Amino acid sequence: MGKDRLVGKVAFISGGARGMGASEAQLFIEEGAKVVISDVLDDEGERTAKRLSPDGSSCRFVRHDVTSEEDWRKAIDFTLATFGQLDILVNNAGIFERGTVLDTSLAAYRRTIDINQVGVFLGMAAVAPHMTGRKTGSIINISSVAGLDGTPGFLAYGASKWAVRGMTRGVAKELAPFGVRVNSIHPGIIDTPMLQTFDDVGEGVREMVRTRIPLGYEAEPVHVARLALYLASDDSAYSTGSEFKVDGGWSA
Ligand SMILES: NC(=O)c1ccc[n+]([C@@H]2O[C@H](COP(=O)([O-])OP(=O)(O)OC[C@H]3O[C@@H](n4cnc5c(N)ncnc54)[C@H](O)[C@@H]3O)[C@@H](O)[C@H]2O)c1
Repeated sequence: MGKDRLVGKVAFISGGARGMGASEAQLFIEEGAKVVISDVLDDEGERTAKRLSPDGSSCRFVRHDVTSEEDWRKAIDFTLATFGQLDILVNNAGIFERGTVLDTSLAAYRRTIDINQVGVFLGMAAVAPHMTGRKTGSIINISSVAGLDGTPGFLAYGASKWAVRGMTRGVAKELAPFGVRVNSIHPGIIDTPMLQTFDDVGEGVREMVRTRIPLGYEAEPVHVARLALYLASDDSAYSTGSEFKVDGGWSA
């Protein structure tokens, strides 16, 4: 595989300080892209950007809370001022909090919806004017296998990820006439800091999910990053409004 699939392209990745967002940033840069990563974790975000591009020519960090419309405006303005254009948005930022219908508080439900769902809406809204104006763009929304199925203990999280899946399909049709593609990725169990929350809740949750993966192991973040690279690049030019699973067979 060549190393130039994103030459001349600029990407914005929310929640890119660590986990799969940071892995996507690394792979995109290796393939020639300029990348802005954003996060609420300032120190980790700055460190990741420095690691990926010590002189700042290929990667910059911007502090950004995806629930804030004002932060989105500033973050996209920063990207355009720094790298001149925006071709790829990865709506990756997200949180996971375990909870059933019996024990999820309204505040907890709204917190998850605000970050995982409203954050994706605001992201698409923030980049759409620029992308539709240039008649090109790829938006990649990170949903989950929990957005394909019912998952016990994932009440708010599942609702937010189903919403991401639905928005992706609708917005794909809205933006297709402008040459802008919108697709969703549905990861299964990926070994990132988020997965540690499975350990934190105990009850052998992590072991329980691992036994449900037909391939028998958790993925590394780069497995998701490679799929994101495909969707970011022109290799996926004819795919929009589609759902791409990377789950080791979980939802087969
Ligand atoms: N790890 C998995 O198994 C898994 C499976 C399916 C889907 N996902 C999804 O993949 C995405 C990335 O998750 P990850 O596993 O890399 O987790 P992670 O916790 O390592 O990364 C998520 C990042 O989002 C950031 N973030 C949280 N709230 C934010 C906010 N309000 N504004 C900006 N940034 C914020 C976090 O600080 C963190 O850096 C998430 O959307 C998650 O729901 C993860």
